[in-house]
Amino acid sequence: MDFKNLIAHCKEYGFIFQSSEIYDGLSAVYDYGPYGVELKNNIKSYWWKSMVQMHENIVGIDAAIFMHPKTWKASGHVDAFNDPLVDNKDSKKRYRADQLIEGYAEKIEAKTLKDIEKAKSRFGDAFDEKQFRETNDRIIERQKQIDDALGRLAQAMTAGDMDDLKAMIDEYEIVCPESGSRNWTEVRQFNLMFNTQLGNIAGEEGKLYLRPETAQGIFVNFLNVQKSTRQKIPFGIAQIGKAFRNEIVARQFIFRMREFEQMEMQFFIRPGSQDEWYQYWKETRLKWHKALGTSGDKLRFHDHANLAHYAKAAVDIEFEFPFGFKELEGIHSRGDFDLSQHQELSGKKLQYFDPELNENYVPFVIETSIGCDRMFLAMIANNLVEEKVPDADGADSVRTVLKLHPALAPVKVAVLPLLKNKEELTKAATDIYDKLKLSFNCQYDEKDAIGRRYRRQDAIGTPYCVTIDFETLENGTVTIRDRDTLEQQRVKIEDIKSVVEGRVSMENLLV
Ligand code: GAP
Repeated sequence: MDFKNLIAHCKEYGFIFQSSEIYDGLSAVYDYGPYGVELKNNIKSYWWKSMVQMHENIVGIDAAIFMHPKTWKASGHVDAFNDPLVDNKDSKKRYRADQLIEGYAEKIEAKTLKDIEKAKSRFGDAFDEKQFRETNDRIIERQKQIDDALGRLAQAMTAGDMDDLKAMIDEYEIVCPESGSRNWTEVRQFNLMFNTQLGNIAGEEGKLYLRPETAQGIFVNFLNVQKSTRQKIPFGIAQIGKAFRNEIVARQFIFRMREFEQMEMQFFIRPGSQDEWYQYWKETRLKWHKALGTSGDKLRFHDHANLAHYAKAAVDIEFEFPFGFKELEGIHSRGDFDLSQHQELSGKKLQYFDPELNENYVPFVIETSIGCDRMFLAMIANNLVEEKVPDADGADSVRTVLKLHPALAPVKVAVLPLLKNKEELTKAATDIYDKLKLSFNCQYDEKDAIGRRYRRQDAIGTPYCVTIDFETLENGTVTIRDRDTLEQQRVKIEDIKSVVEGRVSMENLLV
């Protein structure tokens, strides 16, 4: 399904609404609707269960969003959590300079892809794309332009060289997509943290930040958690919570938001063991994604050329969103950067006594960090499909179905009396609903023809529909319709729970 229809589907079926929509919305801020919140909670449960409850040596916390302002000085966010910003003087629109330059490279690549398409249709099966790319002079020249631009961009970003970013925008003759002009301001650093003020302290002293990552709440609590749980290294601390970034260009729906949620885990290890644990968490996290049925072709690793200020090594797990492969999760080898920084600024020791080595040290850290909202978008993008199915008369019709893994589905089972004005049927259906709701998130629906009710459940991803008909009244059986196979099975009322449980249980994802 294309991206525009996906966004419309999310609104129509109560997954996601624009924040403050009646006031024309607030840019890059979204609200989760009734089915959205269920799906998001299920994603969080899957993460929490697999990361915290399935690991004896990982524990969870829930730290406050507000932290002492020195936290952000120590973490490097006050000085280094910046994006390069440039304004177009004619349109008054603001852009990220690095994204403008990446866009320039993407345009060149688009020309190459067009040539490849043309050659493909000319040469048919005999066409060899790799050979074409390696031998066609025009394409070789374009690839050189791309490599030069991206190489120079990486260098300028690492060095924080704003002048060179501006020089690139000028040299590559990049125009504002809005005004079409090249009338740009200088490029300057823009700090992404939102700030606010403590009520009882005036001026700089009372300046507070909304946390831009949840990780720091874990670092400052490292010793509290280690001592209170008597964990031995290696061990991890996990947290799910809101983070805030004043993104310059926030777009692509919930992919880049100003208020979002992270699921982060910091794994504290002995210095020297970082390569081994980095590898371990890369593989473990990829497996977590694949368990949901996401095909390996849709996921890939991307090593960072541009490292964040805290990272010694970093890799993204990228997912193929409708707008291309983009970061879904980051795995970072953070060394002892954060704990050492906090130790220095707070003047408090943040060390661990290793009984096996009989020595104190500041542990190293491997971090796994995934955006809950991005994961939500990946799940919708990967599972929302339109497909042909036979209608009641056997003719082809098209249905929109959200083929989520059943453990993530917002509603697990819908209970549907065949007719709404037959009291015997609605009574039997409500009795079944009242029992099932103790075990699953269920929905009772008696409005419209049964076919339309099935379609509504398909659109929100309900794995099972239970229909109560006249046979139910005679012999205590119902039909259970499977969302994916469309098969209808007749089962006894007392067996519904075990049939549903068999497919929707989170256990299916964890073993
Ligand atoms: N503690 C490390 C950290 O915050 P990051 O790569 O900046 O690393 C981690 O962010 C994850 O958070 C990303 O992989 C992404 O899924 C999510 N994320 C980051 N910025 C986001 C935004 N503006 N909107 C939605 N999700 C975002």
